[in-house]
Amino acid sequence: MSLPLPTASNRAVVTGASSGIGMALATELARRGHSLIVVARRGEVLDELKARLEAQYRVTVEVRAVDLADPARRAPLLEELAGRDVSILCNNAGVATFGPLAALDFDYEKAQVQVNAVACHDLILTVLPGMVSRGTGAILNVGSAAGNMPIPNNATYAATKAFLNTFSESLRGELKGTGVHVTLLAPGPVRTEEIAEEDKTFVDRIVPDRLWVDTEYTARVSLDALAKNKMRVVPGPLSQAMSVAGNYTPRGLMAPLVGRFYAKLGEGQAGA
Ligand SMILES: NC(=O)c1ccc[n+]([C@@H]2O[C@H](COP(=O)([O-])OP(=O)(O)OC[C@H]3O[C@@H](n4cnc5c(N)ncnc54)[C@H](OP(=O)(O)O)[C@@H]3O)[C@@H](O)[C@H]2O)c1
Repeated sequence: MSLPLPTASNRAVVTGASSGIGMALATELARRGHSLIVVARRGEVLDELKARLEAQYRVTVEVRAVDLADPARRAPLLEELAGRDVSILCNNAGVATFGPLAALDFDYEKAQVQVNAVACHDLILTVLPGMVSRGTGAILNVGSAAGNMPIPNNATYAATKAFLNTFSESLRGELKGTGVHVTLLAPGPVRTEEIAEEDKTFVDRIVPDRLWVDTEYTARVSLDALAKNKMRVVPGPLSQAMSVAGNYTPRGLMAPLVGRFYAKLGEGQAGA
């Protein structure tokens, strides 16, 4: 089993490619010879990525600067992708908020549901029929270990990730024998950049450096898992411990414990 082979016309689509895990996924796909359509709001960052990947890996990179939170701005992208040969889709773009829901910004909470859940659903609905009819395709959904459990003070994020986790693993079960792979990436903490001591958050301080995984490792193991059509990939020991705790601890016990932890993350961020 492998990823769909790159051709001159097919494209791997990566959302949220302007930083973190998405940029690493785009880079790793280009390294493996796949031409790309990269999506995020910051077009200038995507333009730099395009220049770097095209020079380094001799692939074609198309930039789509789109706000995935806005259904009207998403529509032209969906219309375009419905007519393209999308071989791989990495549904990676995502945002999170921390703190009590009543104190958070109304519009941003709604945007979070759009980006983390509705846009992912839209993109899959758009590209899946083509993948099934071609008998080949691969979809990597970037959910989270946070989607395995109730998390007070992170409610919108946890619920959107629960949607993506469950949707991904359910869909995979329908696609047996179609040639279309679906894998859920459900990480715990992934260090997306070097952080100066004074900028470290509560989580950066309490999780020892050796337990963090980086974006390059995460991208590599995720694409390897997608090639093998694994149901779920959970990178690193800390993510795996979170995953086991989230899946097997009674929810009534888990919620207050993680809620206290996430309340600390929300300090000073409510309304952000
Ligand atoms: N890092 C972790 O510890 C961790 C753990 C579990 C799950 N995850 C999940 O992994 C994914 C990537 O996370 P990350 O840590 O790499 O995050 P990140 O560095 O903050 O990157 C988020 C990406 O999403 C894009 N994005 C955000 N809002 C968007 C919008 N409205 N429209 C289009 N693109 C948008 C951003 O691009 P623009 O700002 O340019 O739009 C950026 O490229 C997310 O789904 C996250 O929930 C991360």
